[in-house]
Amino acid sequence: MKIIMLGAPGAGKGTQAKKIASKYGIPHISTGDIFRANIKAGTELGKKAKSYMDQGLLVPDELTCDLVVDRISQPDAANGYVLDGFPRTIPQAECLTDALKNLGGQVDYAIDVDVPDENIVNRMSGRRACLKCGATYHIVFAAPKSEGICDVCGEKLVLRDDDRPETVLNRLKVYHDQTQPLIDYYSKAGVLKTVDGTRSLDEVFSEIVGILGE
Ligand code: AP5
Ligand code: MG
Repeated sequence: MKIIMLGAPGAGKGTQAKKIASKYGIPHISTGDIFRANIKAGTELGKKAKSYMDQGLLVPDELTCDLVVDRISQPDAANGYVLDGFPRTIPQAECLTDALKNLGGQVDYAIDVDVPDENIVNRMSGRRACLKCGATYHIVFAAPKSEGICDVCGEKLVLRDDDRPETVLNRLKVYHDQTQPLIDYYSKAGVLKTVDGTRSLDEVFSEIVGILGE
């Protein structure tokens, strides 16, 4: 099962992608998490990515496509995966379509987690992230057991650099300009499924399971 998650920044793509990966036993591949891990490790890719991410801009397609094509060609991705945060531009979607043709497959589901802009800034300011294992929390809607500490690995939780309100507004603009056209792209491909992302985490997940099957 090859799934991609669409939706604005903060719509809940990462939250739902992790639940999908665990229920269906497929890897969760988040380009944002890959970039953040590279930033933390101080790699060349991380240095390049950071200069774009901190401004709320997209990392250039040529840095992103090869990375994802390489990742989905790994053995653990043979039975499918859930892509979170990729593709995000039409050239990235075309790159994925071409790569899948070569690997002999196609996207099965493009799940658009639909949340209006008004709800987004609130969600982002309450988000806390673990930069070590990639777990995500919300101080109200998905609080960690012990304040400021990751349930999974015990690392200190942080507010992501790009979750400051002024950067969030930039990310929303970039989303509308460059990523929203993918809704039309995957609708034409006949694989688009839209879920109402304003409901609770569990309600959104039930709707997704209704689409993917038990
Ligand atoms: P990325 O890490 O992908 O960020 P994003 O798309 O902006 O999305 P977020 O991770 O912010 O939100 P999400 O939808 O995953 O929401 P979450 O589940 O955490 O990318 C970051 C940057 O990297 C980009 O800006 C770009 O620079 C670069 N980048 C990445 N991929 C790229 C690509 N392909 N090409 C170019 N550049 C790329 O939820 C948000 C919060 O809300 C959490 O606190 C959560 O607990 C809470 N929440 C979730 N669901 C609910 C709910 N139903 N009710 C209440 N609260 C909820
Ligand atoms: Mg995310």
